Amino acid sequence: MNALEGMTALVTGASSGIGRAIALRLAQDGARVIGADITEQVVEGGPPLAEPLREISPESRFARLDVRDHEATSALINDIAAREGRLDLVVTSAMVPGGKALPETDMAEWLRVTSVNLTGVYVTLHAALAQMLTQAPRGTENERGRIVNIGSQHGIIASPGSFAYGVSKAAVLQMTRQIAADHAQDGIVCNSVSPGKILTGKTGPAVSETALAYSNARTPAPRLGRPSDVAAAVAYLASPQTTFINGHNLLVDGGWMAA
Ligand SMILES: NC(=O)c1ccc[n+]([C@@H]2O[C@H](COP(=O)([O-])OP(=O)(O)OC[C@H]3O[C@@H](n4cnc5c(N)ncnc54)[C@H](O)[C@@H]3O)[C@@H](O)[C@H]2O)c1
Repeated sequence: MNALEGMTALVTGASSGIGRAIALRLAQDGARVIGADITEQVVEGGPPLAEPLREISPESRFARLDVRDHEATSALINDIAAREGRLDLVVTSAMVPGGKALPETDMAEWLRVTSVNLTGVYVTLHAALAQMLTQAPRGTENERGRIVNIGSQHGIIASPGSFAYGVSKAAVLQMTRQIAADHAQDGIVCNSVSPGKILTGKTGPAVSETALAYSNARTPAPRLGRPSDVAAAVAYLASPQTTFINGHNLLVDGGWMAA
């Protein structure tokens, strides 16, 4: 399957977890992928992304990027456009974990979380749109570019005890609707994929006994999610068969939000 042949895609937060699975899946589907991350270190362990990425797609590469840095993000996107001719798809997966309720969320904590999970998404999309709006429309649907934001079920309902994270994710879902509505006429297609509980292999509070008990109790499916579940949804929203899906939030949550 080379459904994404000829596309150039930027994936942020691509070194680990869900972003990594997305980068590899898009490459498998034929896209030239620039997997960007602040570090090459893999949260769940294993070889840096560049290795498996290059094996699948020699034209794909890793790029070091801090999504909080607007200038650097614009520079990376300008470089992609100069080298590849255009940027067809951007996927925003970079994040830092939250974990504090409002009383414990002082300004430092608020900025730590929102600077990546909210402002970092704004920065990426602002820089990506600046490029996409200048490139020629392409294909039968005259598309200039696509965006898939990684949201969360916790952007729709409260994220228990995690104020800045939940607020950031809710804002990302609103960014999706805003961009879809404002720029559909410009040939931009913008959607979100919102994972439920996905087991990425990371350790720590995200997979504590309490967190897993909560997730299992909330998930009707007989298992929790895998990064490949989310990657498949992103590949679908990147594919030419989904040109009329715009401003949508696709839940990949094993039924969490249905129950
Ligand atoms: N895992 C889940 O259960 C789950 C559930 C719902 C939503 N999500 C969302 O999925 C996405 C990926 O989550 P994950 O669990 O794979 O996380 P993860 O921690 O495994 O990966 C996040 C990646 O973002 C990178 N990153 C952090 N700060 C950055 C910065 N300033 N610039 C560039 N990269 C940066 C990290 O280095 C890391 O590689 C996130 O947007 C998260 O909110 C995850």
